[in-house]
Amino acid sequence: MLIGVSDTQKITPWEVEADEGIDYDKLSRDFGCSLIDEKMIARFEKLTGRKPHRFLRRGLFFSHREMDTILDNYEKGIPFYLYTGRGPSSDALHIGHLVPMHFTQWLQEVFDVPLVIQITDDEKFFFKENLTLEGTHKLGYENIKDIIACGFNPDKTFIFSDLDYMGTMYPVVCKLWKLMTYNQAKGAFGFVGTDNVGKSAYPAIQAAPSFSANFPHIFGKRHDISCLIPCAIDQDPFFRVTRDIAPRLKWKKPSLIHSKFFPALGGYKTKMSASGGTTIFVTDSDKMIKDKINKHCVTGGRQTVEEHRKLGADLSVDVAYEYLRYLMDDDEELERIRVAYGSPGEKNMLSGEIKQILIKVLQEIVHNHQEKRAAATDEVVQHFMNPNRESLRMFD
Ligand code: TRP
Repeated sequence: MLIGVSDTQKITPWEVEADEGIDYDKLSRDFGCSLIDEKMIARFEKLTGRKPHRFLRRGLFFSHREMDTILDNYEKGIPFYLYTGRGPSSDALHIGHLVPMHFTQWLQEVFDVPLVIQITDDEKFFFKENLTLEGTHKLGYENIKDIIACGFNPDKTFIFSDLDYMGTMYPVVCKLWKLMTYNQAKGAFGFVGTDNVGKSAYPAIQAAPSFSANFPHIFGKRHDISCLIPCAIDQDPFFRVTRDIAPRLKWKKPSLIHSKFFPALGGYKTKMSASGGTTIFVTDSDKMIKDKINKHCVTGGRQTVEEHRKLGADLSVDVAYEYLRYLMDDDEELERIRVAYGSPGEKNMLSGEIKQILIKVLQEIVHNHQEKRAAATDEVVQHFMNPNRESLRMFD
């Protein structure tokens, strides 16, 4: 059986299923990763002099591979870069898609490092029956505007589509292909004989940006610059394979920092999906957000007001509170809500009230996003996609 697939859950880069809710600690353990502990978060704070991002403080980013190496490097002044990506399978992003992007933006800001963002138009063409290559390329271009809206440093960020940039990537992709056997691809991803060969070829393409040799415009002839990859935990199999191959090319293994999935409105410990009618999209109007939350957001509020006053909300199943944990930065306000809502009391907070708070928070995030996206004109996109900028170049 594939790693990540067991009797209780199935987590692969293309499928997430878990009837009883996702067991993240088990997943991290099964993948052979390490959990992020308080000590590591404290080290982040000490080295950067910045309060750790709420996604770290509250455990949304929860697992890693060799994050310590990156922190050691940073401490010694050894450069590294960030790499993340997006598969363009839909037009509008949902708020779950913003999670790795906002976190990556924060990492770029606190470490002040270059960042490369891969748009995998090829991947979505190979893996989604109904999408055309021209279609995914176009979706990618639209998604890039949403990505830019997350506030990346225009001087140090390079966004590329696989289709457009493959000429430059090709030597690294070839070297990786030669070292990856079909059995390895089958073992890590479960490909079968009837799958198109594009699928088997694809993992090397996602692996390539993990190596500085892939970006001569940025790193010149330096093939030894370390890479840190923020991603959702389902992407780990790609990089497990990548890390296995790296030493044979005498390249550095990339480090990773993994997030949980952003839960769907209908249930904590599930994954928000782009096809759900109960998903909050970055294109939603105020009214759509309000209606979706009021109608579909599962809470831990009790059956009757009396019971709710007697027991307080069950926070362990409450999606509204879970969203606020991830989206509300103010620790004191969040704690006030936790106590007011989660404890018994004559005047404790009702689920209708926490929903109102969440609606406001979401509306503000979405407004902010829409405003920034509108500023991402074609000209701005061209800028981010231009590999030949002087400001990108770190080494000759
Ligand atoms: N496969 C990812 C997706 O479907 C896209 C991706 C490519 C990616 N490279 C990445 C994600 C690196 C995280 C990190 O969305």
